Amino acid sequence: MTLAADPQTEFVAFWNDTLAAKFERYREILMNGLSHHSELWLREVQIAPGSRIVDVGCGWGDTARALARKTGPEGHVLGLDCVDQFLRTARADAEAEGLGNVAFVAADVQSYPFDASYDLCFSRFGMMFFENPVAAMRNVLRALKPGGELVFIVWRGKAENAWARVPEAVVQDFLPPPGEDARTCGPGPFSMAEPEVVRKQLEIAGFEDIRFDATDGPVTVGESIRNAIDFQLAMGPAGEVFREAGALAEERRAEIEAVLREALAPYLKGGRIVMPSGSWRVSARKPA
Ligand SMILES: C[S@@+](CC[C@H](N)C(=O)[O-])C[C@H]1O[C@@H](n2cnc3c(N)ncnc32)[C@H](O)[C@@H]1O
Repeated sequence: MTLAADPQTEFVAFWNDTLAAKFERYREILMNGLSHHSELWLREVQIAPGSRIVDVGCGWGDTARALARKTGPEGHVLGLDCVDQFLRTARADAEAEGLGNVAFVAADVQSYPFDASYDLCFSRFGMMFFENPVAAMRNVLRALKPGGELVFIVWRGKAENAWARVPEAVVQDFLPPPGEDARTCGPGPFSMAEPEVVRKQLEIAGFEDIRFDATDGPVTVGESIRNAIDFQLAMGPAGEVFREAGALAEERRAEIEAVLREALAPYLKGGRIVMPSGSWRVSARKPA
């Protein structure tokens, strides 16, 4: 079953018409380069065979597939994402692996008509983009059985995320900040960095037993310096400033790239760009 993510919010439209192509170009970085933040949890989490799980904003489906291996054939994983293009890869990879217990559906998680049949809702970096975060959390709560668990990974602040802060600072030295009317992916990758805010949102949505666990570690944000520069000017906070500056950004591209190259060079490790990063793993429970 494929549901159209329709009517689309302005953010879902932006994911589809602008970000999807960029994400596809930098899939290696976005799916594998940042995976440190889910690795430990995925290795250690105890999933009862037969569990039913939702992967929120599942992208290309690698975490959904990892969870589907854990539930066993009698369990089920539903991967939801508002970009069907990502899900085509997810479906093909699941089929190639012979996983019959995972399905991928294109939908806006904020309004997807869940039934309360899931034991766990998980998300790696897929919760920070909703038009209305509390409404989305409330909808995710609806998906869970009483006592069911929500676990999601979000970036901590830019202070803990040099991979985003360093390139943004470089670009800001050359270009003006994005205007008020700039199109965006939603609240954005750092919108859930503050535990007090997220705790309040989860409480209002109806969750309890809310916990924040910090993960620090390296992310690989370029297979080479060239790849890292291209990635930073296409995506994330630096990419947003660059995109919104339009012709001015292109005029100053050579200067910006030269300074960015210098700023990224200290992070070269075995030919790749490996930078510090920090995330929260947020856990919460639906009241039993
Ligand atoms: C940063 S990516 C993370 C993808 C994947 N979880 C991963 O870690 O590789 C965020 C994902 O959330 C999806 N997304 C954003 N807003 C959404 C919404 N309202 N409903 C469903 N998916 C959404 C995007 O299409 C994108 O695939």
